[in-house]
Amino acid sequence: MIGIIGGSGLYDIEGVVIKDLRKIVTPYGHPGDSYVIAEFAGRDVIFLPRHGSQHNIPPHRINYRANIWGFKELGVERLVSLSATGGISTHMMPGSIVVLDQIIDMTKGRDSTFFDGEDGVVHIDFTEPYCRELRDSFFEAGRTSGIELKKTGTYICLNGPRFETKAEIKFFSRTGADVVGMTAMPEASLAREAELCYAGIGVVTNYAAGITGKKLTTKEVVEVMKMTTGKLKELLKEVFKLIPAERRCACKEALKEARM
Ligand code: HPA
Repeated sequence: MIGIIGGSGLYDIEGVVIKDLRKIVTPYGHPGDSYVIAEFAGRDVIFLPRHGSQHNIPPHRINYRANIWGFKELGVERLVSLSATGGISTHMMPGSIVVLDQIIDMTKGRDSTFFDGEDGVVHIDFTEPYCRELRDSFFEAGRTSGIELKKTGTYICLNGPRFETKAEIKFFSRTGADVVGMTAMPEASLAREAELCYAGIGVVTNYAAGITGKKLTTKEVVEVMKMTTGKLKELLKEVFKLIPAERRCACKEALKEARM
């Protein structure tokens, strides 16, 4: 079972048949919205808009634990996370699609673990935050669909909801960050704690603050995201067919040897 977490309006991909809407309450509260259960190319796919279907939940208010818990409860084993990002590296031009490979977590005050102590102390390995096997499926999907992908990218995650200052972006560029966003963490590490495979697909919607000297606008982010949706859907359509039936990566046993 494959899960997709991202913007709303992605499930009207041609050929996707919506079967059910599932509202779930988790021990951590409510996920952002109902899960959309669908079928595509003989596979079950579940969608969730992380900001809610009306986009009314800001990044710092997202219930990351509930969102991931819900996917797990519905039987999802692999989760594809789609997100808008600002390009820090000059080759991360607006419109680029990036198969992310690293994360720098600068968030604060977010509930970031399922293991708060009651259930033991757990330290998961997070050396490679994204599933290699899922990333490989995306590379293959890029090749077969002819959609150009950036094959690596370090995502620096900020609390937001404001955009960054020019000095912050200059600083982050020196840390090796390629793109900046507000939602990858703790989503990625919770997915690992839940032993899900997790891929992060970043859409570069703008150059980050201070890079071009232009003011940043949410309008621009939304417009570029909309313009890229067609390509994203094509990519997803292709990747659904290519993801192997069995998981052969280490994600499924992330909790092994992680407990104190
Ligand atoms: N900064 C942070 N998050 C973002 C940006 C940005 O420039 N663009 C899209 N999401």
